[in-house]
Amino acid sequence: MSASSAKVSLTGIKPTGEPHLGNYIGAVKPALALAQEYEALYFIADHHALTTVRDPRLLRRYTRSVAATWIAAGLDPDRVVFYRQSDIPEIFELTWIMSCMTSKGLMNRAHAYKAARDRNEESGKTDLDAGINMGLYNYPVLMAVDILIMEADVVPVGRDQVQHVEIAADIAGSFNHVYGDRFTFKIPQAVVPDAEAGRTLPGVDGRKMSKSYDNTIPLFCDEAQLKKLVRRIPTDSTPVEEPKDPDSSNIVQILDQFAEPEIAAETRRRLREGAMGWGELKNQLFEVLNTQLSPLRERYNALMDPDSELDALLAAGAEKARKRAVPVLAQVRKAIGID
Ligand code: TRP
Repeated sequence: MSASSAKVSLTGIKPTGEPHLGNYIGAVKPALALAQEYEALYFIADHHALTTVRDPRLLRRYTRSVAATWIAAGLDPDRVVFYRQSDIPEIFELTWIMSCMTSKGLMNRAHAYKAARDRNEESGKTDLDAGINMGLYNYPVLMAVDILIMEADVVPVGRDQVQHVEIAADIAGSFNHVYGDRFTFKIPQAVVPDAEAGRTLPGVDGRKMSKSYDNTIPLFCDEAQLKKLVRRIPTDSTPVEEPKDPDSSNIVQILDQFAEPEIAAETRRRLREGAMGWGELKNQLFEVLNTQLSPLRERYNALMDPDSELDALLAAGAEKARKRAVPVLAQVRKAIGID
């Protein structure tokens, strides 16, 4: 398929922390797989992170870390347009324009805003908007523009972001309704990758691996740390020689995502037969993870060096992304009468 006829897949990654195994399995790998079928645009949503990350050094580091992670994980910057949101000024101009097309009621119903109000209500505050900034409130408009300005067909996201993609479709519809004879935005659709829809990775305390539970295994922690964290995953006290149910083991769930299927099947068999203890299973998981991740970790560390090619890669990505954004904004300006 030629690049021009391929459908466009776009997603944004918010740089709010160091990437962990759950991000890799639930977001990075499925998005890289989609990049094989689609013309892919992936970007770092650094302005979205500003609603929560207020330390400039951290924001800078997380942004580089996300970029280095995706490239280390196999994103080919020659095939995927990979850029930083903040490098595309057209996004911010269009955000104002589209906010004028967005009903306030639609934003009142956005789940992140509603959740923040619910938290205020639960804690007995009389002002339900206490502590809520306009960035959080307008978040869905900026996200809609990320999508619409690049004329994306599909948007791979986690379940929690599906509503935001629907809002983007709504906002596009409002614009098209008024100006559709001059310019129409493409209506995007969310796709939830299977890994997300089916199972999520358990963290070191057995709950879903998530930054908010503080139970993650960082994707690129060093070997000693990786070993320590794998050892921390809880198991029961079933002795080695007793049969164990592999399906109820958190460790097997992680192993399933990283090991070759034959290896995982053999492990399951040995657990069921009482031929493997939890200690050996943890060693195996560590070995599998370490073998798979160490080449990526090396590449990641090299990219994180301040003198690496990372900045040049992002600059080249921004240039390609702007080639799409600039003409869209120009047509919108013309359509609305500001040109
Ligand atoms: N809101 C998304 C998240 O929290 C990140 C994001 C920003 C995004 N802009 C986007 C995702 C555009 C998809 C498309 O994960």
